[in-house]
Amino acid sequence: MRAISVERFGGPEVLTPVELEPPSPISTEVLVEVHAAGLNPVDYKTRSGSGVAAWAGPPPYVPGWDVAGVVVSSGYGVTRLQPGDRVFGMPRFPRAGGGYAEYVTAPSLQLARIPDDLDFQQAAALPLAALTAWQALVDGAAVSPGHVVLVHGAAGGVGHIAVQIAAARGATVIATARRESHDFLRELGAFALVDREAVPVGQAGQDVDVVVDLVGGRETSAALRALRSGGVLLAIADGADDETRADAEYLGVRVLEPLVEPDGRGLDSVAGLVAEGAVKVVVDSVFALEDAGDAHRRLEAGGVRGKVVLAVR
Ligand SMILES: NC(=O)c1ccc[n+]([C@@H]2O[C@H](COP(=O)([O-])OP(=O)(O)OC[C@H]3O[C@@H](n4cnc5c(N)ncnc54)[C@H](OP(=O)(O)O)[C@@H]3O)[C@@H](O)[C@H]2O)c1
Repeated sequence: MRAISVERFGGPEVLTPVELEPPSPISTEVLVEVHAAGLNPVDYKTRSGSGVAAWAGPPPYVPGWDVAGVVVSSGYGVTRLQPGDRVFGMPRFPRAGGGYAEYVTAPSLQLARIPDDLDFQQAAALPLAALTAWQALVDGAAVSPGHVVLVHGAAGGVGHIAVQIAAARGATVIATARRESHDFLRELGAFALVDREAVPVGQAGQDVDVVVDLVGGRETSAALRALRSGGVLLAIADGADDETRADAEYLGVRVLEPLVEPDGRGLDSVAGLVAEGAVKVVVDSVFALEDAGDAHRRLEAGGVRGKVVLAVR
């Protein structure tokens, strides 16, 4: 099969087209013919030796987690998926997922059926970003009607889905982004837009219930100032350092540091929101599998609206 290999840790140039034997499913796994693979920042972080490299490496390995495709066969014990099913998921994260390839194997419970109206490229753009948003907002912060949610870094992969999931849960959403993305985010359900180049995140909202931090670095601690006492900081981008945790304790704010997990049931919930029109996924750009290096350059350069995807077949 055609695949991309991270030959050594480094820049986008280490992403190398290779020919490999397709993997074989063991018991409880299915073999998926991949039609499209989605990119996430963790792909390039891990490629360069950080991210989840401690678990996904060492090179050479096939990068990528987000996949959408068709089940072609299954190992012993699989009952909920059949050959021919259109499925999507982010198998094995944070271990290597092998997504940039024509075939992957996946534990069947880590996959879900793709909603009818979604094509493979849209479906491949969803799993990691949507599960991050779902697990953080719903499982972690229990966002519900009446809450005010501030999404910091809202125009990217996780942010544009988080805005929609929070709005679908009945929350009022404040979103930070460059000005040119404000109309885009308003259409997705953001109530108030804040120019991230003009307003510090701590002043982007007041007494908000939940902050979704997708920027990290010094912004994580700064974002605490927007929360009410008893509010929740979802430190998704970088987690929280000791100083942030101490500040949060002083301010009476709860800090969660979620790491997304493969979750077929969570994906079913996301698929339900997509099917009822409450969530739409936006694909910024599509690259051929062999151009994975250019796709990484695109995502790393910033300014992406939604998601970057590889067309595999
Ligand atoms: N903990 C987890 O499980 C988990 C899961 C998924 C993602 N993540 C991490 O969360 C972060 C976001 O992921 P993603 O997929 O959404 O990335 P992305 O698609 O690259 O989007 C990041 C967004 O943040 C914006 N941004 C950057 N600096 C900003 C600032 N100072 N103020 C406001 N917005 C800013 C970017 O805008 P511009 O492009 O305009 O600069 C972009 O829209 C990444 O660090 C990723 O690794 C963690």
